[in-house]
Amino acid sequence: MNWKRLLHHAESAQLTPELRARIQASFDESSRDEENFPSTIDPRIYHVKLIREHLGDLRGKRVLDVGCGKGRFARVFREQEPEAEFWGLDISEEMLRYVPEGIHTRAGSMTELPFPDAHFDAAYATESLEHAVEIEKAVAEICRVVKPGGRIAIIDKNAEQWGRLETPGWERWFTRRELERLLKRHCREVSSRPISYWEDVPPDGLFLAWLAVK
Ligand SMILES: C[S@@+](CC[C@H](N)C(=O)[O-])C[C@H]1O[C@@H](n2cnc3c(N)ncnc32)[C@H](O)[C@@H]1O
Repeated sequence: MNWKRLLHHAESAQLTPELRARIQASFDESSRDEENFPSTIDPRIYHVKLIREHLGDLRGKRVLDVGCGKGRFARVFREQEPEAEFWGLDISEEMLRYVPEGIHTRAGSMTELPFPDAHFDAAYATESLEHAVEIEKAVAEICRVVKPGGRIAIIDKNAEQWGRLETPGWERWFTRRELERLLKRHCREVSSRPISYWEDVPPDGLFLAWLAVK
């Protein structure tokens, strides 16, 4: 399927209770697969560094990891900045069991975040928005819970590279322009760029990062 058809599907897709239960069950099961769903990440990986750089000084700040899985990113950020308050939200309670102590967890869907408006100073989502099905709603929710002036980072896969990996039926990848457009509805500054795992290795086009200031 090419990315334009994909986009069309994404715009009409619905996270029905049945699909939500299927996604949840799938990730509950994946939580036992430590090789493909690791609970740690090398802090030198560029995905980690870029988010950290974009979020800036986190001392005394409240930060949300959206679709946190086992909390591997929040684990690193908390070690770097113990004075920040980290929250991890995920649809899979089994994933949340692996989140280290000291990081608050909440089970729920990013399409309906269980937090008040402007509750967080910053939020980020790594390879999780691609599973949200109702993408516009999830982007609106992430932006809703971040304060004006707060920072948002999203890392996901590039729709122009669709087909490179096996994907479940509900997964969607995004073009730079598509997610920029959605973020611009809520944020005053939005940019995007291709990234690779290592800063000194040129990006091969699979991963994109979107950085926004609300
Ligand atoms: C590929 S994993 C990435 C986990 C983590 N962000 C990381 O980089 O290690 C995708 C995660 O998104 C979660 N997820 C899927 N749909 C979700 C939704 N609607 N709301 C919140 N989390 C969701 C899954 O349970 C899973 O933990």
